[in-house]
Amino acid sequence: MSELPPADLPQPPDLPHAEPHPNPAGIKRLAVLTSGGDAPGMNAAIRAVVRTATHHGVEVVGVRRGFSGLHRGDLRMIGPRDVANTIQRGGTVLLTARSKTWRTPEGRASGAAHLREWGVDGLVVIGGDGSFHGGYYLQQEHGVPIIGIPGTIDNDLYGTDHTIGYFTAVETALGAVDRLRDTGASHERIFVIEVMGRHAGHIALEVAVAGGAEEVFIPEDPKPVDGVVQIVKDSVAKGKASSIIIVAEGYPGGAQGVASAIEAGTGLETRVSILGHIQRGGSPVSSDRVLASRLGEAAVYALMDGTAGVMVGRVNGEVIHTPLHETWERRKDVSRDLYRCAKTLSI
Ligand code: F6P
Repeated sequence: MSELPPADLPQPPDLPHAEPHPNPAGIKRLAVLTSGGDAPGMNAAIRAVVRTATHHGVEVVGVRRGFSGLHRGDLRMIGPRDVANTIQRGGTVLLTARSKTWRTPEGRASGAAHLREWGVDGLVVIGGDGSFHGGYYLQQEHGVPIIGIPGTIDNDLYGTDHTIGYFTAVETALGAVDRLRDTGASHERIFVIEVMGRHAGHIALEVAVAGGAEEVFIPEDPKPVDGVVQIVKDSVAKGKASSIIIVAEGYPGGAQGVASAIEAGTGLETRVSILGHIQRGGSPVSSDRVLASRLGEAAVYALMDGTAGVMVGRVNGEVIHTPLHETWERRKDVSRDLYRCAKTLSI
């Protein structure tokens, strides 16, 4: 006979289970779409939206090809089995697009009409700031309740510590930097590596610190490129035979500009590697899957609660709501500490 544990042992915490969520907004059917650049973890977010809704008796309409598909009426019912085996997949099973037509009032009116035809009570938009603009105008002009889920590798949305896809993109870029370091060290070369980030240096900064780079160039600090010449000269003087320099895509002149300045100022040979869209692909890492799952669930609860016109984000581990327009009007700064750290460690 097994003995009972002593009474003073810590009791298991009272963990919540999947409980019924109130639905004061009376949401019966919602729609979900992915829009703009795809990001690893978008499928996990779609899955979370579909399964949370189904769990609470809400039907889901999947819109294919983002707003482009919405104005053309490319809609279909989706259920929990349709999102099986997708949590580990990169890209988006709903497909995505950047739509010019959606920028016109006619395009948005046509999309709103399709949502009415399908009896949709609210729309979940998974994407970046361009996609949130699209959703914002749909709500303003046609009263469709919109909830945004931040899905972009750039991590450039105010109102969330991280966006879905960012963690995976950083890992992918870092893997490439590690490989380039092997060949750079063998040839005693300077590698200038460009990572994605149209207007933001979050990926560049993280990769620079994690990849042990000598220097990093980001759009948030458009310092003159000629400063790098001295940095490379100093590196050589300190006995560094090879160097890794990370440049965010949005830095004026990009990697090519930085490499040209180094060659002109030092006479040393460089190699440029532009990582490009490879950073958007691949199976999402666990942090992206978990973030997507949590925010997908939160998006459905927000609609059921009667909330609209906000992005769900996670700040310090807590889910918060930020008005859609603030996600692009307010600037999300890069980490000053990380920027300093990158400099300190590059001696
Ligand atoms: O999704 C963000 C992003 O990957 C940016 O980093 C990049 O500048 C842009 O999308 C590229 O977009 P496209 O896929 O249209 O070439």
